[in-house]
Amino acid sequence: MKKLRATRALISGGASGIGLAIAEALASQGVELVLASRRLGLLEQEAARLQGRYGVRVLPLALDLCDGAQVRARYAEARERLGPIDLLVNNSGVGSDYLVQDLPESEWDRVMDTCAKGTFLLTQACLPDMLASRHGTVINIASQAARHGYARASVYCAAKFAVLGFAKALREEVQHQGIRVHTLCPGLVQVPPPACPGERKPGWLQVEDLAEAVLYTLRQGAHVQLDEIGMTGI
Ligand SMILES: NC(=O)c1ccc[n+]([C@@H]2O[C@H](COP(=O)([O-])OP(=O)(O)OC[C@H]3O[C@@H](n4cnc5c(N)ncnc54)[C@H](OP(=O)(O)O)[C@@H]3O)[C@@H](O)[C@H]2O)c1
Repeated sequence: MKKLRATRALISGGASGIGLAIAEALASQGVELVLASRRLGLLEQEAARLQGRYGVRVLPLALDLCDGAQVRARYAEARERLGPIDLLVNNSGVGSDYLVQDLPESEWDRVMDTCAKGTFLLTQACLPDMLASRHGTVINIASQAARHGYARASVYCAAKFAVLGFAKALREEVQHQGIRVHTLCPGLVQVPPPACPGERKPGWLQVEDLAEAVLYTLRQGAHVQLDEIGMTGI
């Protein structure tokens, strides 16, 4: 089995759903973790569980990704306590369910800020260390909504298209400086995960499928350009 191209990861939204499955998979491979989102109680609970189970350091980091000053300050704290991050997983995101004609301006801002601005802010915080060491990976959890339009999801589609465009531009800037940028575009994923196999929804992806895809990207050789991975359940 090829070695993972990561030693210390920050996962936004790492205490629930897809982010938690990615955290679990990385911890099982000995990667140290920072789990970052707003709910401190949940972050602490999952960090303690992963640390106990896999024996790696896991730091809970409470932050609101929509607030740039908070993201920069909290990243500095995490760096101070664990060291520089060489894998950033931009996973936090929120959905929305409105027709364009009814979409409140505040809802536009909430979804765009969480999905798109949050991805930019965390990436900007992590980049200096990656550039200095000429080593790092940024993985974005976008969506099929980064490729297709869906009714009642205009702002979500706009935000995920933005994530994909941001990733493509970032890749152009950093790919020759040892930094990889990958974007996963999953269709429907069953979140929260089913309690038992019998509760699996047919045709939906499972959170472990995303975690496997993350490990796959991290096992590719330095000469491999893996930009966008589309995934849908069948
Ligand atoms: N489930 C699907 O069908 C599906 C399909 C395609 C793509 N995705 C994408 O996958 C990612 C993970 O979603 P999920 O399905 O696993 O749902 P989830 O469990 O609700 O995960 C979303 C995460 O985002 C965090 N978050 C929300 N607002 C935040 C903020 N302002 N600052 C920091 N963190 C914030 C949440 O933590 P806090 O509430 O604690 O902040 C939560 O951990 C999202 O980007 C989503 O768009 C999901």
